[in-house]
Amino acid sequence: MPKTNLIMALALAGALAACDSGKMDGKETAIPGTEGYDPEKIELAKKSNCFSCHAMEKKMIGPSFKDIAAKYRGMDAAEENLVFKVARGSSGAWGSIPMPANSPPVTEADIRATVKFILSL
Ligand code: HEC
Repeated sequence: MPKTNLIMALALAGALAACDSGKMDGKETAIPGTEGYDPEKIELAKKSNCFSCHAMEKKMIGPSFKDIAAKYRGMDAAEENLVFKVARGSSGAWGSIPMPANSPPVTEADIRATVKFILSL
């Protein structure tokens, strides 16, 4: 489906561009909408490139972290399931845009820490 390919290409281009700009200098590039959340967790998610597609409270390329928390609240095995999906990639859970695999480069331990944070929201 050409349309899906185009959307994926745009998503990836956006991720790459965001990735580059985040590494421009060693200084903090504040992510809008992350104020008031645990700065360590925000830093980890930022380092893991999650914020090129996700925001805390607003839908971007991917669902907001708050919406993810609400969807899986109280579900057994949500953590295991989501760690696996973030690591290997996910499609069809939220819409037509898939999430590419994040591991590598992000380690499973880092993904688990961010997934725990998301589920705690
Ligand atoms: C290139 C864009 C992109 C990046 C980078 C990205 N995501 Fe996603 N993410 C998405 C999209 C799009 C979806 C919706 C996928 C779907 O519908 O199954 C998603 C879905 C998710 C979900 C819900 C999965 C489900 O099955 O409900 C979680 C949790 C998640 N992302 C966490 C993360 C974390 C943590 C990171 C950083 C390590 C990350 N994402 C990086 C685009 C991205």
